[in-house]
Amino acid sequence: MQTILTGIRSNSVLTLGNYLGALLPMVRLANKNSSTSNINIFVPDLHSIISEIDGNLKENSVRTIKYYLAAGLELNENIHIYRQSYVPAHSELCWILDCVATMGETSRMIQYKEKSKGQEACNVGIFNYPILMAADILLYDAKFIPLGEDQFQHIELTRDIATRFNNKYGDIFTIPAKTSDQVKFMGQQDGIRIRDLVNPEKKMSKSTAAENSKIMLSDDPKKAAKKIMSATTDSVGKISFDMFNQPGISNLLQIEALINNRSFQDVIGEWSGETHYGDLKKKVANSVECLLSDFQAKLANISDEEVIKLLERGEKYANEVANNKLREVQKAFNLR
Ligand code: TYM
Repeated sequence: MQTILTGIRSNSVLTLGNYLGALLPMVRLANKNSSTSNINIFVPDLHSIISEIDGNLKENSVRTIKYYLAAGLELNENIHIYRQSYVPAHSELCWILDCVATMGETSRMIQYKEKSKGQEACNVGIFNYPILMAADILLYDAKFIPLGEDQFQHIELTRDIATRFNNKYGDIFTIPAKTSDQVKFMGQQDGIRIRDLVNPEKKMSKSTAAENSKIMLSDDPKKAAKKIMSATTDSVGKISFDMFNQPGISNLLQIEALINNRSFQDVIGEWSGETHYGDLKKKVANSVECLLSDFQAKLANISDEEVIKLLERGEKYANEVANNKLREVQKAFNLR
């Protein structure tokens, strides 16, 4: 059975960018494929500790899993939910892959450059981050990894490391699909990058200080709608999907399409050529408000106990699968 896998760090409450870029696509793919595929949803809590944690990490991890349920994840025996730190094989494979990956390729990672910029004492975890991510993926032979566009470089690195490993030690790892095929599998034409509402040149990020630039999943729905109404647009005066010249308007169009599970083409076709930016903003503000109201109502009804039970079952499964794969790798290195 093929495996579809994804993870979202639990440093804080998530943004609409996390939700539309990774969480919702995973839930939709899981609901469509879980009768024939393994669906692995995990919290990379070891990845979380590369930076500050807002709140309590253990509680945040449970809340992140609740988000998937509130977003409509339909559970069955092929859905596996776990925390990375409860499956020690991730860390051990990471070390082994450290000895396969090169400093050169890891240093080229954009996220490493961005996260380490200006830091006098950047921790080694920030550098090693994509190698642990490769271990997360390769332990489970995952082929498809629903992610936002900012993570594609890490998938390409995972493919390079796995290919180099297999060439030397035999076909131990499944090579994840290349990013263009990942995008197709998600039913998209391009990777998803939700933009900052104030400065749409940048991606929406939880670490941006300005409150109006981001929508958090915990935002009051009416306040979130106001943020959309005050989003930066442009002076072109005509709606079209053009991320280069009209990133603010294009961002609103993509948010509208993703929330309502409509194709970009469809939404662009509906709005293209219109001149009243306010009408588009009102429509998107309403979509965001309805999304958050519904999501938050569902979230309030999910108990910690329910999630802990899922995690315990998932962690038993994950340890079995990951230990089997790790053993194959250890044998290849004559460690066993
Ligand atoms: P994290 O927590 O930084 O991001 C979680 C997911 O949210 C997506 N994302 C966005 N998508 C669209 N627009 C945005 N503005 C936006 N902001 C964030 C990210 O692309 C990501 O998909 N490294 C992973 C966590 C991880 C992982 C893995 C994922 C660790 N190991 C193995 C998959 C498989 C990450 O970026 O987390």
